[in-house]
Amino acid sequence: MADKDKCIFINAIIVLMTSHICASVSSTGLRNLSLSIKPPWVRRGQEAQLHCQYEMEGAPLYSVKWYRGTLEFYRYSPFENPPAKIFPFTGIKVDMTVSNATHVTLRNVGFNLSGNFTCEVTADAPSFYTGVATNVLTVVELPHSPPTLWTEHTKYDPGDILRANCSTPPSKPGATITFLLNSMTVGMDPTVLHPTHDNLHWASRDLTIQLLPSHYTTGQLILRCLAEVGTIYSEVSQAPLESSRKEPIPERVTSPNGAATLTGCKETRRHLLHTISMWMLTVLAVIHSIRPAPLLR
Ligand SMILES: *[C@@H]1O[C@H](CO)[C@@H](O)[C@H](O)[C@H]1NC(C)=O
Ligand SMILES: *[C@@H]1O[C@H](CO)[C@@H](O)[C@H](O)[C@H]1NC(C)=O
Ligand SMILES: *[C@@H]1O[C@H](CO)[C@@H](O)[C@H](O)[C@H]1NC(C)=O
Ligand SMILES: *[C@@H]1O[C@H](CO)[C@@H](O)[C@H](O)[C@H]1NC(C)=O
Repeated sequence: MADKDKCIFINAIIVLMTSHICASVSSTGLRNLSLSIKPPWVRRGQEAQLHCQYEMEGAPLYSVKWYRGTLEFYRYSPFENPPAKIFPFTGIKVDMTVSNATHVTLRNVGFNLSGNFTCEVTADAPSFYTGVATNVLTVVELPHSPPTLWTEHTKYDPGDILRANCSTPPSKPGATITFLLNSMTVGMDPTVLHPTHDNLHWASRDLTIQLLPSHYTTGQLILRCLAEVGTIYSEVSQAPLESSRKEPIPERVTSPNGAATLTGCKETRRHLLHTISMWMLTVLAVIHSIRPAPLLR
């Protein structure tokens, strides 16, 4: 063969090989690679399941590597024995019994696990095609009880200034507080977050608003405090506000659904009845004791 012919021959082989590799890549790639985290917001100490979904196109799976940030903590290689391997990474507790080529279960998650998780899927020879999918895990702590709502008075008329505040027990991240008067969002003051010694925040918010006749159009006035943490926590406490023409209710700090208010109300009625009957007895006794006096004189 002449040098020129040799060159053509080698070129032809290279082209053949390249096209073969290209064909392999396009037919043995990965499809629909995605990483889902359940739940995406998980409470401290609970477990989260990561699910790496993918479709292999022809080629077998070579490995799936799992990362928190840039650090690998779990690898699944079906051709190795054992196929699953964990890497020492403080704070990440992989439950090997429920982890495999597609799933990883994390137990007893700590706050510092919050962040990006990635699965990297590699197809076997000849393509060694690699794809990655990333998603975010957020480790949270929720308030252990509903918000506490306080109002300066318990009865208000149109024109009165309503002063109230609301607070939540500590959480991470801190809760967002919203005031609703009947169903309308009210208030200009922001939610204030107060740090606690263990890295949580309790939240508080003040409300000052002048009541207008328009607030009374539904016939009743109810102030609600809504506390939310992301999309996983939502609790409401409410205080029905009476008009001053109705019977008085003592100032109170309500728990959710106005349960405390209802008992408070019944308590007041019983007290009132008791007071009135005692008062009448006293009056009768006084009348009785006064009447005979002039007769004696
Ligand atoms: C997570 O917290 C643990 C215990 O508090 C600590 O030992 C570890 O270094 C932390 N890990 C990271 C990645 O910050
Ligand atoms: C991998 O583990 C998950 C969760 O434990 C399970 O639902 C799934 O069936 C397992 N897949 C295989 C191929 O074993
Ligand atoms: C997670 O990834 C996003 C997008 O790549 C990046 O902006 C962000 O800083 C990462 N978060 C952490 C905690 O590393
Ligand atoms: C609301 O304000 C009152 C008076 O300033 C205060 O005593 C109380 O602790 C506050 N309560 C809440 C729930 O923030």
